[in-house]
Amino acid sequence: MVVAIDGPSGSGKSSVSRGVASALGLAYLDTGAMYRAATWWCLHRGVPLSDVDAVAGQVRTLPLVMGVDPQHPTVHVDGIDVGEAIRTTEISAAVSAVATNLQVRAELGRLQRAEIESARVRGRGIVAEGRDITTVVAPDADVRVLLTASEEARLARRARDVHGSDDAAAVEATRDQVLRRDADDSTVVQFHVAADGVVTVDSSHLDFDQTVQAVLDVVESVV
Ligand code: C5P
Repeated sequence: MVVAIDGPSGSGKSSVSRGVASALGLAYLDTGAMYRAATWWCLHRGVPLSDVDAVAGQVRTLPLVMGVDPQHPTVHVDGIDVGEAIRTTEISAAVSAVATNLQVRAELGRLQRAEIESARVRGRGIVAEGRDITTVVAPDADVRVLLTASEEARLARRARDVHGSDDAAAVEATRDQVLRRDADDSTVVQFHVAADGVVTVDSSHLDFDQTVQAVLDVVESVV
């Protein structure tokens, strides 16, 4: 079984996708981590992100290994564990420049399809999450979900993740970055409105367990 989950920043899709994968005994692929790893690699190699051909060249030879266990997902680049390094605000601020490079999207899309195919061949199945999985990477997935949440709920979640609080100051500190990243990403991928055949799950008023259950209900209804 292949489950594709897309959604904007702060929709909770990473933790919910891991929860769904764990509940169903499936592998888990965080495609955002792949874009983050590509960004980390380019910065590590001193490649200016504005040089689209140089960035694409680096990504074509990106020595990336994704660990797809939902209990313990890992990301290694050139043998280096970059799991934490790719979550910094520096990478969050830079990643859209790499993700809007169409040559990069073609290459990472190819790697993502290969991961999905390899899970399918091994008979395990996979939950793959990102921004364009339901539409571009795996439009033929068995289950396709768009996980949304109101802007208010998304900002509060991201503020709790990054600043450990969702008071007004923390939300304000998060607002610019989250909204700008979504706006930049939206220039090349569409993840605010469900495509044909994609089921929307709105998590604005659901807690984590309820959201995982809502996605599991969708899985049950379509397979
Ligand atoms: O999900 P996460 O916030 O880690 O994604 C980081 C970035 O990776 C996004 O802001 C977007 O630029 C890019 N991305 C993408 N397509 C995907 C997944 C992520 O463009 N399928």
